[in-house]
Amino acid sequence: MSTAIYPGSFDPVTLGHMDIISRSSKIFDRVVVCILNNSTKKTPLFSRSERVNMLNDVVKKFGNVEVMQYDGLLVDFAKENNISIIVRGLREITDFDSELQMAQGNHMVSPDIETIFLATDPRFSFISSSMVREFASYGKSVKGFVPEEILPLIEAKVEINQ
Ligand code: PNS
Repeated sequence: MSTAIYPGSFDPVTLGHMDIISRSSKIFDRVVVCILNNSTKKTPLFSRSERVNMLNDVVKKFGNVEVMQYDGLLVDFAKENNISIIVRGLREITDFDSELQMAQGNHMVSPDIETIFLATDPRFSFISSSMVREFASYGKSVKGFVPEEILPLIEAKVEINQ
């Protein structure tokens, strides 16, 4: 059985993430969406448990996707769970540098682990969680950026002017 990890900070999950989850679920028998800490992102909008809940809600329509979380290195999570494939989405060329570095670093410390990149659907390539947080924090609706189920959760955090 082929299993892949789709790791990220998912603060919050976006339509771009959903596209990668959906496509990965067709490629692999099982996909584990794993919420990890990104040390460059200091002040999350959603707590870890809120992110677990929101992801569980939006992936329940896929029969082979589950949500996990981990405090530590992605490669250690992969090893502990006997998973050797990591999936990441590439939105644009500016993602390439950091994603390549991360994949090469992970491969250096854990040569059995491979990273596979999926090209983001161009309809979603401009979307990032940080853009969603920024628009929402200034009261703009983020409809069209995130799954519909997430909108009320964002509206509960910030005041949105419809
Ligand atoms: O959604 P993001 O913020 O781009 O995801 C980045 C993430 C969380 C996958 C990455 O920061 C990560 O793997 N964090 C866990 C710690 C780790 O393994 N660091 C080494 C690779 S940079």
